[in-house]
Amino acid sequence: AFEVELRRTGTTVEVPPCKSILQAVREAGVSVPSSCEQGHCGTCETAVLAGTPLHRDTLLTDEEREASETMMICVGRSRSEKLVLDL
Ligand code: FES
Repeated sequence: AFEVELRRTGTTVEVPPCKSILQAVREAGVSVPSSCEQGHCGTCETAVLAGTPLHRDTLLTDEEREASETMMICVGRSRSEKLVLDL
């Protein structure tokens, strides 16, 4: 499990292995648009403010993965103990 801080909302949620970041964020009452929920449409793209995402989408280029300014939170996870998202 890892933590995701929703900086604009001012809350932090725990993301266990059985849950996506998107699910955990929604359970915290924050609405994020989504469509495919499989990492290939880009609807749920979210800005990453801190931490190291583990990208599992099929959209970002290698350069974008490296920069990790955004991530698809329907499938992406975290390499660091905590991610900070612009939500
Ligand atoms: Fe399609 Fe996340 S909802 S990439």
